[in-house]
Amino acid sequence: RTQYFGLHGKTGHLVTAERIDREQLCERVRQCVLRCEVIVEGEMKFYEIEVEIMDINDNAPNFREAETELRMSEDRAWAGSRFPLRNAHDPDSGPNSLQSYELSGDDHFSLAVQTGPGGAQRPELVLVKALDREEAALHELVLRASDGGEPSRTGTARIRVLVLDANDNAPVFSQAEYAVRVEEDVPVGSTLVSGSATDADEGLNGHVKYSFHKISDRSSEMFHLDSETGEISLKDSLDFEKISSHELEVQAHDGAGLFDTAKVTIMVTDVNDNEPELTVSSALSEISEDAPHGTVVALLHVQDRDSGANGEGRCSLDGGGPFQLRSSRGSYYSVVTSRELDREEVSEYNVTVRAADGGSPSLRSSAVVALRVLDVNDNAPVFAEARYSARVAENNAAGALVLRVRATDADWGQNARVRYRLGEGRVRGAALSSYVSVEAETGALYALRSFDYEEVREVGLWVRAEDGGAPALSSNVSVRLEIVDE
Ligand SMILES: *[C@@H]1O[C@H](CO)[C@@H](O)[C@H](O)[C@H]1NC(C)=O
Ligand SMILES: *[C@@H]1O[C@H](CO)[C@@H](O)[C@H](O)[C@H]1NC(C)=O
Repeated sequence: RTQYFGLHGKTGHLVTAERIDREQLCERVRQCVLRCEVIVEGEMKFYEIEVEIMDINDNAPNFREAETELRMSEDRAWAGSRFPLRNAHDPDSGPNSLQSYELSGDDHFSLAVQTGPGGAQRPELVLVKALDREEAALHELVLRASDGGEPSRTGTARIRVLVLDANDNAPVFSQAEYAVRVEEDVPVGSTLVSGSATDADEGLNGHVKYSFHKISDRSSEMFHLDSETGEISLKDSLDFEKISSHELEVQAHDGAGLFDTAKVTIMVTDVNDNEPELTVSSALSEISEDAPHGTVVALLHVQDRDSGANGEGRCSLDGGGPFQLRSSRGSYYSVVTSRELDREEVSEYNVTVRAADGGSPSLRSSAVVALRVLDVNDNAPVFAEARYSARVAENNAAGALVLRVRATDADWGQNARVRYRLGEGRVRGAALSSYVSVEAETGALYALRSFDYEEVREVGLWVRAEDGGAPALSSNVSVRLEIVDE
């Protein structure tokens, strides 16, 4: 969506146009690749370019909360008890991401690191020695997370353990894991899932409150947890194209600090909410009528942000014209001529390309390429009549108009500009041109001298019409003049 690269048109150098942050572009993606296409206008060709963005260690591991308070009941926290701690998060990838945890501060506790699904490290506090509130009511610890960069970066969280008097029952969630599927267009404010926990204790020790235990920054902007009911509702609209699944952990704790955690998975399902985008990458605006069939007229690209069938953009061409669509590669299409064109038949085309995705109902869009057909001198002038004849009374006046011939040419402009000329010939030994003349622009035939029936009874001649093309095309017509006796 953002143009990260620019192209120097003359040199072909691809340069960065924006600051590129791998963590912002490709969070959770191992190989971060940006794609772009370069079009060589003259050749009507495109090339695909892939640029891989390499990670540098520019983020330190970070705990969402710099300070955590744990409440432990002195009679329930035995040596060997484990308490989950919040994870740190480092958006860098590979060795630059989070590698290890370290705990310091107090010999009552040690650190264990569990490896969760997908290799995620989960720090846990392990109680080494039994707690005695009367001896120490507060233990202060520091948890340090380090990444594997060179040099390595670290983040710390302070942990305060408050030792409490007895509380016999912890809250218990009705399920260890809650999973729901919701469509991406569910309205803001809807309740998506409700995890509820019960606590057998009475009073404050049995009063359950809920909080997010583990949640990503993005998810925390989207979901609201009601601390009294445990209902998770939508704060901001979902977008399958951005995040298709959210994993959260919810904690239920009673008034004395005992708790249970449950995992909540919210799977977002795709709704066909994006229409295919059709872009004309390159197009001709004029084409000569003698262009061979198969000439590329336009290059188009179709893209749909939805996924699966909802994101499969298919193109088609409005039928009837002398064009066909070729699928060049992936989502590229080219419009080519399917036969030779004839400007005298159709001089202008609006070629409409339509794109439809595979959703139901399917979304559509279209693009129009306007094309003008340029003339080629492929038509000769055509006389209005197959032959001309006229009767001329003898003793006519010299310079009299005898008849007009007329020819038209279906081409355009200079190619259609017709001029007339008298064909060579002789009448009784004299040049025909001394008897008659033809006006080049109008085709009017004049008698140059007075005819004498007793001398000439009939004159046959040819008039030639020629157009202004290069090379010019021409045609002839025969004209017969009959002299009438007086
Ligand atoms: C092509 O579209 C333009 C703009 O809508 C319109 O003015 C023109 O008449 C159309 N030409 C043809 C041959 O349909
Ligand atoms: C027309 O006549 C001229 C001269 O008679 C001849 O050279 C020419 O080839 C003719 N053209 C056509 C198209 O018949």
